[in-house]
Amino acid sequence: MKLKTWLGILTAVVAVFTVQAQDMSDEAIKERIKPLGTVHIAGAEAQAAAGAGAGGAKSGEDVYNQACMACHGAGVLGAPKLQVAADWQPRIDARGLDGIWQNALNGINAMPPRGACGNCSDDEIKAAIEYMVEGI
Ligand code: HEC
Repeated sequence: MKLKTWLGILTAVVAVFTVQAQDMSDEAIKERIKPLGTVHIAGAEAQAAAGAGAGGAKSGEDVYNQACMACHGAGVLGAPKLQVAADWQPRIDARGLDGIWQNALNGINAMPPRGACGNCSDDEIKAAIEYMVEGI
């Protein structure tokens, strides 16, 4: 087997372990959203394997598509919609980007903590928000 192939496999294994280790530290969230979490972890593993070599954190757009679009695409339950200034501006004015980031991490009303993405890092959540408010 070629060295490059081995490196690819190694990267995928490390990525999957990293995803699982992060998830362990969020035991409470994982318990609460179990069905969603299970589906999500399977997706993350597939993504880690597919993206091996490309490596690193998920982009804001990837996180959005994976974990936020379900609500923020159509504005489910009053969620501010993707790149709609009228939805986002009042929130940014009131709390700033850091404030809405904290609310996304901790949850606010019908918005679950981290959008129920148990294995998204703080920075990945931030990247997803930056993607949602892009151009505003
Ligand atoms: C289950 C539906 C749902 C999912 C999934 C979801 N959100 Fe939300 N989100 C909401 C709702 C509803 C609100 C409005 C909450 C309110 O202000 O009452 C909201 C509000 C927010 C806000 C504004 C917070 C503020 O302080 O005004 C941010 C930022 C945010 N979501 C980020 C995200 C990110 C990032 C993701 C994906 C990782 C995500 N959301 C996934 C439903 C969701």
